[in-house]
Amino acid sequence: MHPIPILQIGMGPLGQRITRFLRERRALRLVGAVDIDPDKTGTDAGTRAGGPPLDVSIAGTLTEALATCEPQVALVTTVSSIRSVAPQIEAVVAQGLPVVSTCEELSYPWDAAPAAARAIDRAARAHGVAVLGTGVNPGFLMDLLPLCLTAVCQRVDRIEVERIQDAATRRGPFQKKIGAGLDLETFDQRKRAGTLRHVGLTESMQMIAHRMGWSLEKTSDVIAPVVATQRIETDALTIEPGQAAGVEQIGTATCGGRACIRLVFRAAVGEPDPHDSVSVEGVPSFRSVIPGGIHGDIATCAITLNAVGQIRTAAPGLRTMADLPPVSFFADLDAQAAAPDAQ
Ligand SMILES: NC(=O)c1ccc[n+]([C@@H]2O[C@H](COP(=O)([O-])OP(=O)(O)OC[C@H]3O[C@@H](n4cnc5c(N)ncnc54)[C@H](OP(=O)(O)O)[C@@H]3O)[C@@H](O)[C@H]2O)c1
Repeated sequence: MHPIPILQIGMGPLGQRITRFLRERRALRLVGAVDIDPDKTGTDAGTRAGGPPLDVSIAGTLTEALATCEPQVALVTTVSSIRSVAPQIEAVVAQGLPVVSTCEELSYPWDAAPAAARAIDRAARAHGVAVLGTGVNPGFLMDLLPLCLTAVCQRVDRIEVERIQDAATRRGPFQKKIGAGLDLETFDQRKRAGTLRHVGLTESMQMIAHRMGWSLEKTSDVIAPVVATQRIETDALTIEPGQAAGVEQIGTATCGGRACIRLVFRAAVGEPDPHDSVSVEGVPSFRSVIPGGIHGDIATCAITLNAVGQIRTAAPGLRTMADLPPVSFFADLDAQAAAPDAQ
């Protein structure tokens, strides 16, 4: 058993959780880490992630990190914008390393940012490696999962996905990120400034449409506050009646003059009935529900690690979750490679 050596780029909350998860994975091993935050550089990645030292010092640059380790895959958890992540990824693939990133706009950038997507694709092909954008959402719950569920359909007319989260169980920074505790005027200002937005609904709609063969005429992405009707207290903040308890964002897409995709993302403190659901209208029509919903940070870190199993053998270029063979949990890559269908 030879664990795959991993380079972690970005040691924020996600990079730290991935570092903790890596300790528990037999098939993967952290060998290097990079972050531009001077408070983090020079510290041990294991300690930074809240555990015992791992003897992996966080480097300030990719070059510094690669002077001390020989990774086979890089995980990039730094930014949400494809234009910002593009130079980071191009530098990594130039070293011959495949990339799995949680950058939301990278999950399906072919329609929203075609020039950046083509540049990343060209760089990856030139160096013979694959690049993937993934995560819980975008990357799975509101795009790949509904696509997989249509495997049983003879016809698909419309797809609706709901991701409803009770933010009471999430970290204080997440509660603040979704606008909980803001008066409605401040909520509106943040919304107009673009700082109160779940990134990725449009990319999810475009990934679904591409696979369904739907040519989208119009997409919309509308953000509104979820307003508290009573006083709510969490460990991090107090929300008065009339203030925002969180955010609702609804993405809709039309094709052939009809609404074909509706994605409802709602995250609010005290939200009743949290769940993830997929409704498919077609032949057959059905609804699939995950009661309680999936924990976003756990899922994003796990799917990033699970995608390592596929990214090393994927065709060179920029790939999406819909392009790869199914990504699943794996305990042991040697066992996966020895499976009869892999011969
Ligand atoms: N697809 C999904 O489902 C999904 C789910 C959750 C999160 N995400 C995304 O994943 C990303 C990571 O999440 P997070 O909560 O850990 O974000 P975060 O709190 O912003 O942390 C990112 C870390 O990366 C560092 N960084 C920024 N640019 C860098 C660079 N060029 N090289 C090395 N390090 C760099 C940052 O340093 P500074 O603080 O100094 O900038 C920070 O320490 C975010 O963009 C988030 O939106 C995606």
